[in-house]
Amino acid sequence: MIPIKIKAGNRQGRISRNIYSHFSEHLGRCIYEGFWVGKDSPIPNTEGIRNDVVEALRKIKVPVLRWPGGCFADEYHWKDGVGPYEQRPRMINTHWGGVEENNHFGTHEFLRLCELLGAEPYISGNLGSGTVHEMQQWVEYMTFDGESPMANWRKENGRAAPWKLTYFGVGNENWGCGGNMRPQYYADEYKRYATYVRNYSDNQIYKIACGPNDSNYEWTDVLMREAGRHMNGLSLHYYTLPTGEWKDKGDATGFDEEAWFETLRRTLYMEELLTKHSAIMDKYDPERKVGLIVDEWGTWYNVEPGTNPGFLYQQNTLRDALVAGINLNLFHDHCERVQMANIAQIVNVLQAMILTEGERMVVTPTYHVFDLYQVFHDAELVPVEFDNPSYRFGDRKIGQLSVSSAIGTDGKLHLAVCNLSHSDGSELVFSPEGYDWTRASGRILTSDKLDAHNTFDAPETLKPSALEAPRSEDGSLRLSLPPASVAVLTLI
Ligand code: AHR
Repeated sequence: MIPIKIKAGNRQGRISRNIYSHFSEHLGRCIYEGFWVGKDSPIPNTEGIRNDVVEALRKIKVPVLRWPGGCFADEYHWKDGVGPYEQRPRMINTHWGGVEENNHFGTHEFLRLCELLGAEPYISGNLGSGTVHEMQQWVEYMTFDGESPMANWRKENGRAAPWKLTYFGVGNENWGCGGNMRPQYYADEYKRYATYVRNYSDNQIYKIACGPNDSNYEWTDVLMREAGRHMNGLSLHYYTLPTGEWKDKGDATGFDEEAWFETLRRTLYMEELLTKHSAIMDKYDPERKVGLIVDEWGTWYNVEPGTNPGFLYQQNTLRDALVAGINLNLFHDHCERVQMANIAQIVNVLQAMILTEGERMVVTPTYHVFDLYQVFHDAELVPVEFDNPSYRFGDRKIGQLSVSSAIGTDGKLHLAVCNLSHSDGSELVFSPEGYDWTRASGRILTSDKLDAHNTFDAPETLKPSALEAPRSEDGSLRLSLPPASVAVLTLI
């Protein structure tokens, strides 16, 4: 029995709903098939965007959606993706599978998708192979309210009113696919491009600079020193690979207990990354005005057998649910610095919420975690104290539990608990201070199969079930958690 203390009176900061944001790239079947089927498709759609996917995503409330990449962003020329479809040039998507990109899904389609989802757009601009002028004109096209060459072109293309655009990324992974730059060089380029990312009319842009790849602390230091005053956010990318090797990352299903353990151990590395990058940012920005934007995170496995290696299509199991829960709990802990996070990617790519096959669609275990955790959108973080038991594998060990608690916008106290152990259950006992709770109830995602997942033929193999933590005679609440589980409780 593990006693835990929830200090409900001690609020420690707001967990931005934007931590629950998403990423969609022109990669594999994310945009085409995942969202865009075209207006003439037999798959029910609204102006070419499939209805079933939108409906499922509306249920988990997508705060912000990032687009068009990723690596694709620094090769994307936005003017190719507006105007009549038949006049839009075709290009080769060299990063992702070498397939043809017909540019049918462009600025208007993306911003319409955001409207349908009720999400705010986050656009990544092309710094790697585009010009300052091109970036300036894109922002003018989208946001200028009045007479101007770009605003007039937007109107000719069917959109009279400007869109509201808050989040704009000035390049992506410019240390790698976005131009292989040194941090000093990128910092100068960032400032040059960002100068022309203007606030037109009353639109206010939150500018996001390309940040480090996992533990590249030098990148963060140089960017904050040289350009910190010119940015609102700095990105961070970190993916969980079960083996840690890009050549053979490990499979999404059929893995053993060691791969389970290693995946979760490597996920917990996010804690060190957030702490160390935040400490560097604190040095230059002690008031924490610049947000750390974790705009790519999640699992990255070997692709599903028989699929295009450039499409990054992978299954999603109970293990991914744990990865999601652990990361979200860590983002909560660092909510004073982490202002947004975007899991990669929303449909059919990497750690997706949704998989599609023709007209069929299935929601993944990761989707269910985002659903369970909705109570944490804009909630106030409160501390939880407990002695975390060790979860051992061979000579390696990690904490068995990942826990987070917050007061929701509904005024209720919510508690998320992930039990990482593949073999051991856990029993928690708690008496929240200052509150007269009589019971805790919520939902849990678990299975006795570590790679339990949903398929098109069995779409409900893994889904949440009800969970109760009743009050015992001494007044405390008791919660039994099976191995390999993610639970979210509300204290009533
Ligand atoms: O999410 C897939 C790719 O991973 C993105 O395009 C890139 O930014 C990262 O390397």
